[in-house]
Amino acid sequence: MIWRVDQTLLLGVVLFTSRALATNCSTVSVTSESDAKTLRQSCQVITGDLTIGPFVQNTSTVHINLDGIETVKGNINHDLGSHDFTYQETPFTVSSSTLTKVGGTVLFGDDVCNMLNFSMPSLTTVSGDFTMSFWCSNLTYLDITSLEFVQNLQIAGKSLTTLHHTKLSNATGLWIYDNLLDSVDSIFNNPLNITTGAEIDTLPNVKNVTIGFHSANSLDISDLSVILGGSSSTEMSLGNVTFYKLTGLQRNSNLKVLTADSVDTVPTSSMSQMDIPFDDLRQLSVREGMYSDVVTLRLPAKAANWTGGFALSVYMSPGLNLSSMYGLDDQGNQIQTWYWPTNVSSIDIYEAIVANEFLYV
Ligand SMILES: *[C@@H]1O[C@H](CO)[C@@H](O)[C@H](O)[C@H]1NC(C)=O
Ligand SMILES: *[C@@H]1O[C@H](CO)[C@@H](O)[C@H](O)[C@H]1NC(C)=O
Ligand SMILES: *[C@@H]1O[C@H](CO)[C@@H](O)[C@H](O)[C@H]1NC(C)=O
Ligand SMILES: *[C@@H]1O[C@H](CO)[C@@H](O)[C@H](O)[C@H]1NC(C)=O
Ligand SMILES: *[C@@H]1O[C@H](CO)[C@@H](O)[C@H](O)[C@H]1NC(C)=O
Ligand SMILES: *[C@@H]1O[C@H](CO)[C@@H](O)[C@H](O)[C@H]1NC(C)=O
Ligand SMILES: *[C@@H]1O[C@H](CO)[C@@H](O)[C@H](O)[C@H]1NC(C)=O
Ligand SMILES: *[C@@H]1O[C@H](CO)[C@@H](O)[C@H](O)[C@H]1NC(C)=O
Ligand SMILES: *[C@@H]1O[C@H](CO)[C@@H](O)[C@H](O)[C@H]1NC(C)=O
Ligand SMILES: *[C@@H]1O[C@H](CO)[C@@H](O)[C@H](O)[C@H]1NC(C)=O
Ligand SMILES: *[C@@H]1O[C@H](CO)[C@@H](O)[C@H](O)[C@H]1NC(C)=O
Repeated sequence: MIWRVDQTLLLGVVLFTSRALATNCSTVSVTSESDAKTLRQSCQVITGDLTIGPFVQNTSTVHINLDGIETVKGNINHDLGSHDFTYQETPFTVSSSTLTKVGGTVLFGDDVCNMLNFSMPSLTTVSGDFTMSFWCSNLTYLDITSLEFVQNLQIAGKSLTTLHHTKLSNATGLWIYDNLLDSVDSIFNNPLNITTGAEIDTLPNVKNVTIGFHSANSLDISDLSVILGGSSSTEMSLGNVTFYKLTGLQRNSNLKVLTADSVDTVPTSSMSQMDIPFDDLRQLSVREGMYSDVVTLRLPAKAANWTGGFALSVYMSPGLNLSSMYGLDDQGNQIQTWYWPTNVSSIDIYEAIVANEFLYV
């Protein structure tokens, strides 16, 4: 009895060892569920790239389970094979509960990509970019719960409804667009220094976003309500800001200092008066206000002290009412709503409602 048990154990050890020796953990290509199985039994560390696809299987869905792999030193890529964008790829999922670090990039969707689920809840660091592009149009579920350190983060996919994510500690660029998520605060409400740009576009299910950056060279946001200043941020300095058809714009009262180089805005009647809530701003441009309802802009009292040589440009905005520096507060009392900076470098106004009372101080 005891002898038999020993033999079985021994056999198991021998089999495992020989399989480990037979598998190359340098640069690997996974084209089937059995490839994935071999890999997860043999490699904790992949020293080169890990490529997923093209799939040889023709099943309903290929599940690439990479449990056991802890580090990929190179890139994780998807390979469609020698097909063009009309190809109907086998649907697939990718998961690993153990992978924590990728030394290169993670890229799905440099071409058509029929991935349905991507689940790597332990992945903390991607030294390069992490990309799920718009080509991943059937991706519904993305679990990157622990992802904190990444260079540029891009998340799109017009079926994407679920994102599991907690916070970011380091990222240089963010492009989040064309998906069905209902909150992206785990990505934007972080004290990051954005140096390559941050953009939010076509997120029909997001009502508002909180921007908690420390700094950003550029910020582009469309079609939702924006709260500037996160729970932990007290200062924010922005470069070129574009606010396209926002439904709201608020400044968090925690924020002590908020500056921008330029704000370019296309207002809509869903925000009939827009307070420009900055402590310093050099340039304000308003364009294409081609709406029927009248919209007004407000500049705060501290605008009087803006030092950079303020440039105002307004064009193609027939609904923008620049006829007075006064308006009404919530109680209906007349208050000053526009303060001209002392140092103005230029004023260009085309196609707007203007009166002398707006221009004479
Ligand atoms: C593993 O694969 C790499 C790249 O394909 C190759 O250069 C290397 O020689 C292989 N190592 C072994 C032990 O087969
Ligand atoms: C996969 O299977 C379907 C139906 O079983 C078939 O129509 C299709 O041609 C197959 N694709 C490949 C690449 O073998
Ligand atoms: C997504 O799924 C639909 C329906 O199965 C299919 O027609 C379409 O080609 C898939 N998209 C991609 C990018 O594979
Ligand atoms: C994708 O993940 C979700 C959540 O774990 C699960 O409900 C769904 O069945 C998965 N889809 C596939 C195709 O594995
Ligand atoms: C944060 O990102 C910058 C720029 O990519 C990099 O130099 C720095 O080492 C990163 N810090 C950490 C803690 O990852
Ligand atoms: C952002 O920059 C500030 C000032 O340079 C620095 O104190 C802070 O640590 C930086 N934060 C990150 C996440 O890089
Ligand atoms: C943001 O939207 C969520 C629902 O999506 C709502 O609960 C929350 O109150 C909103 N926050 C602000 C400040 O408007
Ligand atoms: C803002 O845009 C202007 C003009 O396109 C450019 O010269 C400037 O460098 C940009 N500022 C930043 C901080 O990127
Ligand atoms: C503008 O600056 C002056 C001098 O520093 C200061 O007294 C005044 O309160 C400032 N005005 C506003 C509205 O911040
Ligand atoms: C006015 O703005 C210009 C930049 O357009 C700047 O060079 C100048 O120093 C500013 N003057 C004052 C008094 O702030
Ligand atoms: C523009 O604003 C002025 C002053 O608030 C107001 O008297 C006027 O009726 C407004 N014009 C339009 C077209 O709404």
